[in-house]
Amino acid sequence: SKALHLVARVDSFALFPGEPTALWCYAGEVDGRTLANPVLRAVHGETIDVTLDNRLQEATTIHWHGLSLDEASDGSGLHPVAVGTGARYRFRIRNRAGLYWYHAHPHSRTGMQVQHGLAGVLLVDDEEELALRESLGLRWGERDIPLMIADKQIDQNNAIAYKLDADDWIGNRVLVNWTPEPYLDVVPGWYRFRMANVANARMFRPAFIYDGQPLPMQLIGTDGGLLAQSWPIDDFFLGPAQRVDILLDFSALVPGARVTLCSLEYVAMENDNDDTVTFQPDPMADHPGAEPMGNRLDMMELRVVPPVQPIQKTHVPQQLARLDPTPDTTGWPVRHFRLRTDQDGRWFINDWNFHINGHESVFAVKRGTREVWEIRNYMTSMPHPIHLHGFQFRVVSRSISPPDIRARMVTAEGLGPQDLGVADTVVIWPGEIVRIAIDFAQPFTGTQRYMFHCHNLEHEDKGMMVMFAVT
Ligand code: C2O
Ligand code: CU
Ligand code: CU
Repeated sequence: SKALHLVARVDSFALFPGEPTALWCYAGEVDGRTLANPVLRAVHGETIDVTLDNRLQEATTIHWHGLSLDEASDGSGLHPVAVGTGARYRFRIRNRAGLYWYHAHPHSRTGMQVQHGLAGVLLVDDEEELALRESLGLRWGERDIPLMIADKQIDQNNAIAYKLDADDWIGNRVLVNWTPEPYLDVVPGWYRFRMANVANARMFRPAFIYDGQPLPMQLIGTDGGLLAQSWPIDDFFLGPAQRVDILLDFSALVPGARVTLCSLEYVAMENDNDDTVTFQPDPMADHPGAEPMGNRLDMMELRVVPPVQPIQKTHVPQQLARLDPTPDTTGWPVRHFRLRTDQDGRWFINDWNFHINGHESVFAVKRGTREVWEIRNYMTSMPHPIHLHGFQFRVVSRSISPPDIRARMVTAEGLGPQDLGVADTVVIWPGEIVRIAIDFAQPFTGTQRYMFHCHNLEHEDKGMMVMFAVT
């Protein structure tokens, strides 16, 4: 088993010229060095043993986003770690290889704590992944690179600003791996990027722009690991908490070339299937100076440099991984969820607005059963990245999708390439009806309670969350 001690505390970093920036972080010693929010690595089947020491001024947790764990290890708001105390998360990794992440999840303060920095990534490997990496010839940390993307609102004193109770906290600066205006020297060969959107509320539309045009990419994986086969894409939407695994070939570029990783402009908030006026968030009210949602943003610069040694050949196999096709859910019981808002701007799932003190589970699911969850968004809404704890799922169908999403369809069920993998977070666009298939098999006993919520953290904190019990 792998032991790690993490201290939740506030540290200062020189992120911008001038004043240092205070980041709330999980500080831990990895390979003899103390790191803030270290990139963690584990192998499928391995046991992780993390102790958390809370030296913040308020309760926190570590939630292992995407991992299939028991309730206590899941680290949701049901198990806050009080100031000056600790917790132990000891669990076996049962998930497929992929990029997962960890973040604070104390109820009603998740948005604030994550915005201030309490988040990191966890890479899980398995045999299939190691075989693929061998054939790609792309080494982790060299040409296989994690990119944690978040926007922050940075004030005149270089401090991260946050206001509890605000809506859709979007920022004025984009950080990639905690770095403003990052750049990466790349050689003319293949690269693999594992992107995670760890922003509170912003949806990104990433594309690698060269000479005004998007470079073609291969989508090879999503939240829960590899797809069966790669899909060519030019850009994609990455909602809060979602991850993608992509391959990109710079071989045709000459040293000196510049590529920019951008978030392209989008208007996909609008759904033309209905006459209703689509809800447009007015972020500027709460966030003077913030870059409006859907604006084009530059996130990272890639500078092509001459290789110092011969570039190893990359072979992208026809079959990337064993992955069951999307299940045929005929006859499965269907549970219905409606995403909605009210006059006061509170967000609901059905008629539920979550309160931690209620503590009763909203509904129960029988362990070992399979269910379809049908999630429906109103036309007059905004996209909601909906996340399930405890279980990964498959997207089964999308209907009434807005034009930008319809244009990405590759199956008769309305799915795009990003819907063909294993997921823990799915974006439900305005007007859409999305069905997901969940297999509630798990090796735990007794009652295990989990959350199902919007990963726009301001929506989550204001109650766009339900708790369910697996019994
Ligand atoms: Cu990434 Cu309930 O969280
Ligand atoms: Cu989660
Ligand atoms: Cu939401």
